[in-house]
Parts: sequence; C-alpha cells; structure tokens
Amino acid sequence: MTRNLLVTSALPYANGDIHLGHLVETIQTDIWVRFQKLRGHQCVYLCADDTHGTPIMISAKKQNRTPDEMVAEIGQRHVADFERYGIGFDCYYSTNSPENKALSEAIYLKAVSAGAIEQREISQMFCPNDAMFLPDRLIRGICPRCRAEDQYGDSCEKCSATYSPSELMESRCAECGATPISKNSVHHFFKLSQYTDQIEAWVRGGHVQSEVANKLNEWFESGLKDWDISRDAPYFGFKIPGTDDKYFYVWLDAPIGYIATTQKWAADAGMEWAPYWTDPAVEIHHFIGKDILYFHTLFWPALLMVGGYQLPKAVHVHGFLTVNGEKMSKSRGTFINASEFAESFNPEYLRYYFASKLSSGIDDIDLNFEDFVFKVNAEVVNKIVNIASRLGAIVNKSCGGTLSTPDAVGVTLLAEIEGAAERIAILYEALETHKATREIMALADKANQYIDTQAPWAAAKTDPDHARQICTTGLNALRLLAIYLKPIVPQLIAGVEGFLGIAPLTWEDLTTRMTDHPIQPYTHLAQRVDMAAVKVFLAGR
Ligand code: 2FM
Ligand code: ZN
Repeated sequence: MTRNLLVTSALPYANGDIHLGHLVETIQTDIWVRFQKLRGHQCVYLCADDTHGTPIMISAKKQNRTPDEMVAEIGQRHVADFERYGIGFDCYYSTNSPENKALSEAIYLKAVSAGAIEQREISQMFCPNDAMFLPDRLIRGICPRCRAEDQYGDSCEKCSATYSPSELMESRCAECGATPISKNSVHHFFKLSQYTDQIEAWVRGGHVQSEVANKLNEWFESGLKDWDISRDAPYFGFKIPGTDDKYFYVWLDAPIGYIATTQKWAADAGMEWAPYWTDPAVEIHHFIGKDILYFHTLFWPALLMVGGYQLPKAVHVHGFLTVNGEKMSKSRGTFINASEFAESFNPEYLRYYFASKLSSGIDDIDLNFEDFVFKVNAEVVNKIVNIASRLGAIVNKSCGGTLSTPDAVGVTLLAEIEGAAERIAILYEALETHKATREIMALADKANQYIDTQAPWAAAKTDPDHARQICTTGLNALRLLAIYLKPIVPQLIAGVEGFLGIAPLTWEDLTTRMTDHPIQPYTHLAQRVDMAAVKVFLAGR
C-alpha cells in the first residue's frame, strides 16, 4: 500500500551557517525520505529557516541591516549548503512568511477561545541602556553557587547549577555591559497543563522512542508548567493580536512553520495542504535533536490540538555530533561549517559516514576523521566503485561493451543479494541505518569475492564469452547494491546509472536483471580520500 508521508527536519536558526551538527539531522532525514520515495511512497520533505527572536534581531543590528534583509541572505546560504549535501527538500521556506503569521495568529486566537491563555505580570531583567528585556542568555555574571565568572543568566557552565537571573551575582547586559534592573511586564502564558492527559496519551501511543518516553514521563511526574509565549518589544517576530508591544516568542511560531511550509509547498505544487494536517491517512514525521524535545513533544502537540490539527505519527530524536571524540568547539577547531567541509571533501562521503553511524537511538555520534578516511576508502571506493572500474574495463575492452547473461554461480549470488531486500528495508524504515550499511557492505564483499574467484581478467584472455558472463553477474550485483545505497549516496548512484546506461533505479528494479545490455565506457566515479588532505584540513583551522 502506498503511504502518504509528510517529513520535516528541525528549522535552522537564521543567524549562522549550517554546520556538521545540522547535517547529522538533515542527512538522517534525507536518507529516510529518499528511501521512502525509492519504495514508491508519496513523501513530502519540508524545512525552513527559523527566523525570529532576540539573537537574530541583535545580529542584524550589529550588521546595520534590517532583520528581514539578514534572514533573507542567510536563507539563501542555507539553501546552497543543503544543496551541496544533496538534501532533497520539496520546499525550503521561512518562518517569516505571511502564511506563518496568519497561522500563528489563528492558533493563538483558538487558544484564547479555549481558555488556554492567561495574562500575568512578571518581573524580568531589563537593560536600561538598550531599553530591552534581556533573555537569560544575554545576561552574564558570577555563578551564585561556585562563583565562576562570566556565566549565563540561567545556568553555570562550570558547575551546571541552574538559577534565576536575579540570583546571578554582579549581573550585566552581555551586549553593553550595563547593570540590568528588574522590571515588570504583562506576559501571555499558555496553560500547558490543560492538555496533560491528551499529551500523555499521545506519548503512550508509541510516537516517540522508548528512551524519549522515559524522559517525558519525568516531566509528566513533576507536572507541566505554563509556557510563556510572549516577548516584549523590541523583538523580531509576529505581534500578538490585540496588543501593541507584545510578540509571539519564537518557539511559538517556529513549529507552526511546519504547517506554513506545507501551505507554501502545496500552493506551488497545486496540491491541497489541509489533508496533510488533518487526514489520519497522512503520517507526519518530525526529525529533531534531543535538545529540543520539550518543544516538539509537549508544546507542539498541545498547539496542534488547539488548532484542530492531527498529531505527528512520530517524532524521531537523534543525539549530538562530536568531532574526534569531543564536543564541537570553535576554539578547538572542531566546529566545522558545511561549506568548509565541502571544499575539502566530497559531501557524499559525509553522507556515507554518517549513515554508517546513525541509529534509532539518541546517543551522540562521533566524526572520527581517521575512521572517516578508512570507511570511505575501504567501503565506498574499494567495495563499490571498484566493481564498476574493474569490470567496466573488461567489458569495454574484451566483450564489445555489452553484457550477456549471468553464469550459474552468478544467478545464485544475485538471488542472495536480492534476498536481503526486506531485511535492508526494515533497517532503513527503523532508522537503523548503520546496520543497513553493514548488511549492504557484507553483500558487496560477496560480490567482490565472486569476482576475485572467477577472475574475469584471466578468462578474458582465454574465454571471452565466459568473461562476459562473469562481468554480467558482477555488474548486475553492482546494480542491486546501487539500489540499496541510493538513499545514502544518490549522486554516486546517478553516476553508476549513467555508466550502466540505465534509467534511474527504484526499489522495484531489484527483481529484474540487465541481460544482453550495452554499458557505457567507464569514467571515474569517485576518488579516494587521503589522510594527508585531512591533516591539511584540520591544521588549517
Ligand atoms: O533549535 C533550533 O535550532 C530551532 N531553530 C529549531 C526549530 S524547529 C521547529 F520547531 F521550528
Ligand atoms: Zn545593554
């Protein structure tokens, strides 16, 4: 049965470049989406820039630009970076859009009608010099617990204490250094606890990984807190209806951006958007990192309920990226932007490497450069590309450039490779991508063992017909492996399709074979990665 899927990756903030941490997620999502499309399912993959909030407003001010100008420019850079890595969004939009404004207002007004919004006066830190309320991250001072200097307003990086900004000692505005004062202001709160039972029921319905459900249970046990969804002017965002100087907190309109992007995609594609958010036949899948769990599994379901929309079929949570075993850090040179990496290495190699490490769990994954070089060379180049280069040369030189039929041993080998299809599909579906790559490489080993044992280069000298049969088997094996690998390295597989002279492969092609088929001359498909290039890359940082 054809499935109908709506898939999203978390919306990157529009105040910085795409880095390898973002790519863990978009590559994981893109592989899953490509797999679904390859299997013939309807699948729409959406994302957008998350454009609102104080940090973006401040960055724009520093650059002497309007926030609108800045986010438009950053949006283009993000699109270009994702393209380099083959991330196949069906639409990449922006939360700073008319659709998102209208939806955010409508959902808010429904929340008001449902009695889910309460206004309360609260006291907050305010910078008299900048004339603005300071988010916790914009307040620095001395940790009240361990006395470490230069800590944030909400938590200490040294001793991990959490506290309120008023407890921080000798606090100052991170922007101008002025001493903040406490000031009162009316805020709008979303009464999340009103939806506890429904959210809990959704979590129990198996829509999140078990380790995520455990974390959520802790939050349920301590009771869901009201959520402050408003921010005072000056703020870059959407004004709250019925107010002059209050804006929606960025985390209110950000996830609503998923729906707004669906509207944009649907309008451009001549489709209806509403069924995607109301028809239970559609499966909504969100991919996110573990840091934004609270927003996607508590606030977001509540907003969807208020809006009268359906809840996600799944929120897939992944861990963080470490580089050579350490947290990504600018000072250690391990904070790597997507564009920098792509200048030194083939982006598809990162896709393959991440695929070989990604699982359905929330553990962190490590980019170890030595392992990266080893895996790319030993697996992608030696086990896959080499089949094409070795056999292509023989077919073109000794067999007139045309295949015949597989030999008897070859028929068995091909049946074995085809026979792994369901196993591999289950692993892809379950996001056990590292296991899928292992299965595929084990099959590639079998294909290579067959070629080594049959030695078509020797047969080419004595029995060209037999050599042609061996090559026919080997290249059919390559074609089957290419189907399995296509979600991970689509560009490389496009090259294989060109070399084999075949139409774009789909999962259904696993059941057919190329016989009596002309191939193209082999042209270089992929290059080895050199450890020396890695050394140069890391030394230059
Ligand atoms: O954490 C982040 O990077 C956010 N910009 C993610 C937003 S996802 C969605 F809710 F919009
Ligand atoms: Zn200030």
